[in-house]
Amino acid sequence: MALDIVIMAAGKGTRMKSRLPKVLHRLAGRSLLAHVLATTAKLGPQRCWVITGHGAEAVESAIAGSGASPVRQMPQLGTGHAIAQVAPQLAERGTTLILNGDVPLIEAATARALADACAGQRLALLTIKLPDATGYGRILRSGDPEGGRVLGIVEHKDATPAQREIAEVYTGMMAAPTAALKRWVAALKNDNVQGEYYLTDIVAMAVAEGVPVVATHAHDDTEVLGVNSPLQLADLERRLQRRQAEALMEAGVRLADPARFDLRGSLSTGQDVEIDVGCVFEGDVVLGDDVRIGAHCVIRDAVIQAGAVIQPFSHIDGASVGAASLVGPFARLRPGAVLAEEVHIGNFVEVKNSTLARGAKANHLAYLGDATVGERVNYGAGSITANYDGAHKHRTVIEADVHVGSNCVLIAPLTLGAGGTVGGGSTVSKSTPPGQLTVARGKQLSIAGWKRPIKASPG
Ligand code: UD1
Ligand code: MG
Repeated sequence: MALDIVIMAAGKGTRMKSRLPKVLHRLAGRSLLAHVLATTAKLGPQRCWVITGHGAEAVESAIAGSGASPVRQMPQLGTGHAIAQVAPQLAERGTTLILNGDVPLIEAATARALADACAGQRLALLTIKLPDATGYGRILRSGDPEGGRVLGIVEHKDATPAQREIAEVYTGMMAAPTAALKRWVAALKNDNVQGEYYLTDIVAMAVAEGVPVVATHAHDDTEVLGVNSPLQLADLERRLQRRQAEALMEAGVRLADPARFDLRGSLSTGQDVEIDVGCVFEGDVVLGDDVRIGAHCVIRDAVIQAGAVIQPFSHIDGASVGAASLVGPFARLRPGAVLAEEVHIGNFVEVKNSTLARGAKANHLAYLGDATVGERVNYGAGSITANYDGAHKHRTVIEADVHVGSNCVLIAPLTLGAGGTVGGGSTVSKSTPPGQLTVARGKQLSIAGWKRPIKASPG
């Protein structure tokens, strides 16, 4: 049966007090709307529409390539008016599932159950009972407020004090028989407190026509919570992070504190992984068996192999760390840093677009950019590759077993031959032969009998 999905995203989001359209604010690293689109993609092949209005251009460019098509609503005269804009494009029969761009954590199973409850014949509403229902549309039922037939939805602003006591609310998500939906939204009126075309008024129309109205329920409130303010966004972020942390811990990952853990992307983990407090993972990160991540590391798009230890306050982006390597504290691995097994990168060492072979070490205060570093190389404190001449980047090749002393400047392009040593403080601008000591600095000189100047005494 044809399933059309409509995601409403034209609203202003006034309470965000932001220039960014509300649905483009980020939750766990991707936009609210991207969360909803990822969920709709799980519902299988269908057509998906996004109602845009406020910030339409930004929202439309954000959904380009997602498979969803934008439908502009100008001006925004209410949720019923929003659906009326897309109605001509919906299929002639089947089910239309209506979701909200600012309710990001709706689960695919719940959305599917809602569409199934409609099955092209019934009007299905997703409802939940809330201890504080302020602001929501209340579900009106005949007789028994628990089990009676659904008769309609009354908006909070239009509700009587007695109706405001009702705990069951409309979550803003429904599934409707498409042909009837088209008819109903065309007949909506805006004679209410807000002067808007309320989509929720179609419930009474369905009841009047004898179309069955059913309610399905969300399994927890997190999946139906909307984002209207920075506070609500942060609350949802913590709920989602908690959910992700619990899933990782169930898989055996030892998080020092699930409340101080942030994953903004995907994290795949081996066995006996330990993550200390305050770490942020972004993009796609892979941690092998026995990896330990110290406190306050930021790790993005990285692969960290078995047994590697990342010490506190390290920043790793677009890099790969070999098995049993030791990184940090305060290390920075930038894109293209590829460390083999048992490499040591110590404090205040920056590595960019460089490969380090097994057992290479750069333990303190150093820069390696555009370098190829051989096995067992020891790279001294304060040494740098001068890889950029102002126009081009050049490579530095440091062959196996080279020792580079402290505070050396290696002016690329050059090759340090295998097993050679570069004396501390050298500025090396030419390749060096294997096996020899190269020193490129002023010779030390001591002057006997030299007298330090003294100030003439005043007066
Ligand atoms: C709506 C429901 C209310 C429900 C609540 C759940 C109606 C009339 N009321 O109220 O019963 O309890 O959601 O959160 O539907 N939108 C448009 N175009 C518009 C107006 C809104 O696209 O002209 C979009 C908004 O961007 C938002 C969604 O529709 O994604 C809901 O709009 P909102 O103004 O938040 O409706 P509520 O007053 O919260
Ligand atoms: Mg709302």
